[in-house]
Amino acid sequence: AAAAALSSTLLDWYDAHARVMPWRVGPAERAAGTRPDPYRVWLSEVMLQQTTVAAVRDYFRAFTDRWPRVTDLAAAADADVMAAWAGLGYYARARNLLKCARVVTQDHGGRFPDTAEGLRALPGIGPYTSAAIAAIAFDRPETVVDGNVERVMARLRGIETPLPPAKPELTEAAAALTPDKRPGDYAQAVMDLGATICTPRNPACGICPWRDPCVARATGIAAELPRKLPK
Ligand code: ADE
Repeated sequence: AAAAALSSTLLDWYDAHARVMPWRVGPAERAAGTRPDPYRVWLSEVMLQQTTVAAVRDYFRAFTDRWPRVTDLAAAADADVMAAWAGLGYYARARNLLKCARVVTQDHGGRFPDTAEGLRALPGIGPYTSAAIAAIAFDRPETVVDGNVERVMARLRGIETPLPPAKPELTEAAAALTPDKRPGDYAQAVMDLGATICTPRNPACGICPWRDPCVARATGIAAELPRKLPK
């Protein structure tokens, strides 16, 4: 199926089934074009690296209650931030978090850069996080690729190349589908699809919005993809 039809099908599904998360805006605000706060998007994306949505929720609320803006976090004592992070793991993330908050506050007037390139220059922000913030908070048509997205693309397009060599091919497949309109909602829709329907095991193909165009479903190999090289 053509890219525009695929992304529009998925956005319709997202409008009906988006998971509710404290860093997202609701359907009514989305319809009105309201974007989520870049600080909240950044904080959630950093917390979500190697940590599940369920585990992140309470930490996210605690951080944003205590430090509602990036300038508040920048002014926090290191020890307070490290203590609030305790339990999330990967403590380098917390150190970079503070570094980044201080750079945004001191060098950017407390406002996050609004392009992937500008975001990428900040401490602790790599290709995934810069694309995610640019798309979700600033509506930039950046392609966001995580493990969920790789799995969904491998199945939708029937890509049998094993990971990791398949990475460029899967990124290309994802980029070809990224819409100019609502790229942030689209990015989150693919991640939600991967987390709830196009799951690693026992994918729920029967209720998938992409069940008809999905190549792997048609050939009966959805659950086998993505293939992986033996370790
Ligand atoms: N995983 C990481 N970031 C996410 C997001 N914004 N939505 C859904 N899943 C995610």
